[in-house]
Amino acid sequence: MRILRLLTAGESHGPAVSALLDGIPPGLVLDESHVNRRLAMRQGGYGRGGRQQIEHDTVKVLSGVRKGVTTGAPLLLVIENRDSRLDETPELTVPRPGHADLAGHIKYGIGIREVLERASARDTAARVAAGAVAELLLQRAGCRIFGRVTALGDVDSGLAFPAVPEDFAGADESEMRCPDDDATTRMKEAVDRARENGDSLGGIFQVAAFGVPPGLGSHVQWDRRADAVIAHAFMSIPAIKGVEIGPAFANARLPGSSVHDEIVPGGGGGYRRLSNRAGGIEGGITNGEPVVVCAAMKPIPTLAAPLKSIDISTGEEAPASRERADVTAVPAAVVVGEAMLALVLADMLLERTGDDRLPKGPR
Ligand SMILES: Cc1cc2nc3c(=O)[nH]c(=O)nc-3n(C[C@H](O)[C@H](O)[C@H](O)COP(=O)(O)O)c2cc1C
Repeated sequence: MRILRLLTAGESHGPAVSALLDGIPPGLVLDESHVNRRLAMRQGGYGRGGRQQIEHDTVKVLSGVRKGVTTGAPLLLVIENRDSRLDETPELTVPRPGHADLAGHIKYGIGIREVLERASARDTAARVAAGAVAELLLQRAGCRIFGRVTALGDVDSGLAFPAVPEDFAGADESEMRCPDDDATTRMKEAVDRARENGDSLGGIFQVAAFGVPPGLGSHVQWDRRADAVIAHAFMSIPAIKGVEIGPAFANARLPGSSVHDEIVPGGGGGYRRLSNRAGGIEGGITNGEPVVVCAAMKPIPTLAAPLKSIDISTGEEAPASRERADVTAVPAAVVVGEAMLALVLADMLLERTGDDRLPKGPR
């Protein structure tokens, strides 16, 4: 990010996770209830593990705000962990395939516990808090972000690419964050089956931003391309292994005449598109259409019926370690995806509109 800067800190079972968000201009009403709503959404979803029953995430804003309004100084957002017992957590010696355990141990020469405490997706609570602030900024500019689960394991909702925010209506009410009731039921059954088998599930989710002004990002340099910035942000979410802008993989199988979005006159001498298969970005620049991102999440690595592994203290074969874990976290990952999209779009918006004042209203 070029204007906003975000660093997070904290261990899964440390006293807190926190986000230091620098670059938010002065004058933004920091609605803590909005941040807390987003944090609660991240904790929800069918298939989550016991940790979510313990934690009741709420944000403490420790700097950068006076009388509820940002001052332009860095924001320190802190979410305390109720399950705080870092020094008492047991040592682990058998790495879980698919987690950071073994790679982190080999890289740093530290214990698996030290690796997993920071690799844990508990960190995504801090990102969601920061993203909620970015979302408040985007709302000022008339931009809204929505997300939904489109597939869970082998259950495909069949939901197509969105055209309007209403396509996401009902996602908030669904335990799978999927606006299709029938698909929600089938997804929940798939979670139940996975749980019974000691297994886990991944899935696919979609996040879209409506009201994004044209001109965010740039074609002139590789690291300023909006699609590249968005892909980086999504791939930084733990367990996200694929990102798609618009229906990119379907587009790859079609001729250009069926893919590219024809340009027709819009109101007031502007332009309009007859479709949005580009997902709102051409040449690394937003084109005024909704920005649509899909992400593939791999199944949760911690399995109740563990896979083969090796005890690093003895070199002997052993079943992988077990920790309290989610069967699936795709409904939670949607909320993290919304936060990451909000952060990078807010950053690009500030870069375009000037970084020391809040952006003006919708254009
Ligand atoms: C919201 C969310 C919750 C997660 N919950 C768990 C969990 O309970 N147990 C687990 O082993 N992995 C969980 N993961 C996935 C791991 O954090 C992730 O697989 C791990 O950090 C390894 O990183 P990688 O998958 O990106 O390689 C979760 C991920 C997200 C986004």
